[in-house]
Amino acid sequence: MAFAEYQDEIYLDGLRGVVPGLPVTCDELQPLAEAAIPPAVRSYVAGGAGDEYTQRANVSAFEQWGLVPRMMVSPTQRDLSVDLFGTRLPTPLFMAPVGVVGLCAQDGHGDLATARAAARTGVPMIASTLTVDPMEQVAAEFGGTPGFFQLYTPTDRELAQSLVHRAEAAGFQALVVTLDTWITGWRPRDLAVSNFPQLRGHCLANYTSDPVFRSRLEKAPEDDPAAAVMHWAKTFGNPLTWDDLPWLRSITGLPLILKGICHPDDVRRAKDGGVDGIYCSNHGGRQANGG
Ligand SMILES: Cc1cc2nc3c(=O)[nH]c(=O)nc-3n(C[C@H](O)[C@H](O)[C@H](O)COP(=O)(O)O)c2cc1C
Repeated sequence: MAFAEYQDEIYLDGLRGVVPGLPVTCDELQPLAEAAIPPAVRSYVAGGAGDEYTQRANVSAFEQWGLVPRMMVSPTQRDLSVDLFGTRLPTPLFMAPVGVVGLCAQDGHGDLATARAAARTGVPMIASTLTVDPMEQVAAEFGGTPGFFQLYTPTDRELAQSLVHRAEAAGFQALVVTLDTWITGWRPRDLAVSNFPQLRGHCLANYTSDPVFRSRLEKAPEDDPAAAVMHWAKTFGNPLTWDDLPWLRSITGLPLILKGICHPDDVRRAKDGGVDGIYCSNHGGRQANGG
């Protein structure tokens, strides 16, 4: 189905006097979402680094892009599909990995809801390391749509390998390693309310369900959640260097994508090191302000 056909449903419903229950523009949806989400989650979702200059710069940079449509090409048969790593995808769109999206759904299982949206739309989800539900349960909702797993590489290499091998076994089709978040950016909105969801034990299911992570704890996370969170905080972020790339490359046969790369020289170096794809990103201005 072409994406534009989703509107047919709305117009046809209108013939029965049914109008959409939700706004159809992002501008109208945003305040409703903000009102519905608890303040602690809201600050984490909305907040960027520093004075949020990069967040704003990203939006205005994006607005500089335009499309030049071509005519007389029978647009009823749209084909936006792309080949990527041997897989044919219906469009070049992906859902970016968003840790805490799990907390944003009414039932507290937003990762599963996102995976179901991927199944319905054919737009692949890049599932974050930081999910409410373990990656195996997220992957089970993908239907026929491929999914990618995003890895925050922990300092414990055995744990990193365990997470990657679980992702492979669960059927994820590529590994996206995020490089720009071995330490959290300076985020004034979260700092002002002393809030960091993971430290409150949220979105750590991939860790607490992991045999290697569990083997590092004296007591099971169910019996001593605070100790599990503290261990997570100690091992969460690994400031990788180029010397780590051969190891990273060696732990998976899946296509390897590096997220957070912005400089052409870094792209060349990654390519030379056997990386399959670059996810050019400044993390939406949440990490280093000024990017
Ligand atoms: C609330 C929130 C949580 C995010 N969590 C993650 C995450 O867990 N892993 C990750 O790699 N990126 C995370 N990101 C960054 C996004 O994946 C993405 O990089 C960002 O929204 C900007 O989009 P762009 O990279 O396409 O420019 C998060 C972004 C937001 C807004």
